Amino acid sequence: MSINIVLAQKFEDLAQTPPMGWNSWNKFACNVDEDLIKQTADAMVSSGMKDAGYEYIIIDDCWHGERDEKGFISANKERFPSGMKALVDYVHSKGLKFGIYSDAGWQTCGGKPGSRGREFQDAQTYAKWGVDYLKYDWCNTEGLKAEGAYLTMRDALYEAGRPIVLSICEWGQNKPWKWAEDVGHLWRTTGDIYNCWDCEEDHGTWSSFGVLRILDMQEGLRKYAGPGHWNDPDMMEVGNGMKVNHDRAHFTMWAMLAAPLIAGNDLSNMTQETIDILTKKEIIAISQDALGIQAFKYQTKDGVETWIKPLSNGDWAITFLNRSKNEQKLNMKWEEQEIIDPDFGYKMNLASQVYKIQNIWKEANLKDTQKPLKISIPAEDVVTLLLTKN
Ligand code: GLA
Repeated sequence: MSINIVLAQKFEDLAQTPPMGWNSWNKFACNVDEDLIKQTADAMVSSGMKDAGYEYIIIDDCWHGERDEKGFISANKERFPSGMKALVDYVHSKGLKFGIYSDAGWQTCGGKPGSRGREFQDAQTYAKWGVDYLKYDWCNTEGLKAEGAYLTMRDALYEAGRPIVLSICEWGQNKPWKWAEDVGHLWRTTGDIYNCWDCEEDHGTWSSFGVLRILDMQEGLRKYAGPGHWNDPDMMEVGNGMKVNHDRAHFTMWAMLAAPLIAGNDLSNMTQETIDILTKKEIIAISQDALGIQAFKYQTKDGVETWIKPLSNGDWAITFLNRSKNEQKLNMKWEEQEIIDPDFGYKMNLASQVYKIQNIWKEANLKDTQKPLKISIPAEDVVTLLLTKN
């Protein structure tokens, strides 16, 4: 007798660049229904976001109805009268992909049925609906070990047979960057984000954090990420009420970090400024660069952080993030810089190589690295340069 054993694994070849899309949670929380999802898919196309590279429409917590007598989950019937399969089909008909949400515990964070003990059954259901992406949360998991719980869902998805991106959402509590490369395609590194530049919102037993707080929590993690396995500093708050300079800096830093670019605002009601930020193609190109390496922090001076991201073909992106409340002037001689990636060893050859410089947000050319760099960086804002070989 011979037995064929199919070893489960994660689906390779997915998320080779940081996933781009939209998720309902930051703006709508539990207030989700099929009209919202359809309108959002429509808006992703009509706003130009799809053309800019956004792909996934992800419905977060609270879509759930009850389990049936056999334990199969379905969507809440009042909010999703046409059912989940029809909604997935609608999103696919727009040329987009569909993401869904569940939880490794017995209930989701919003108190809906979790997947604990039902992992294989739920994975089958998602595959049958045509789901392309699963965000898998970590509420109500007392007694569970994170690595094992996420491995179980990974294996369940593999067995169900449809390639589905697995987004691990255990808030960095069990250091997923150390074990999740073979388990999921991205992993949250922190607690929840909050639409504020530099704050902590205390909810009693947990906190959510503003953009700069989340950014500071990424220290030391860049060496763990790469194509198919990304650090996830949470979904974006662009267009959710911060000032435009904060939104621009937030978006730019997420791109520099090769973070998933998952919009979290109302796509049907965006200002032109929000659209311009979310669809800025040169910044998206930095995020989606095939090398898949996060920026490192090169130096901090007068409240200005210099972040540098190696790109494929020997190009580089540099972002000056001014965290101070004043405009800062910068006068820098390129030949005095020694720019070496501390984790991956890439080196900028400023002695033997002249790089052309493009100031991305200003849409201006700044000549090249033979001239000193003289720029000013507005308060709580960014200047991003693209350096390309001549
Ligand atoms: C957790 C996650 C959030 C969101 C909510 C839903 O807080 O971290 O991103 O999914 O649960 O309840």
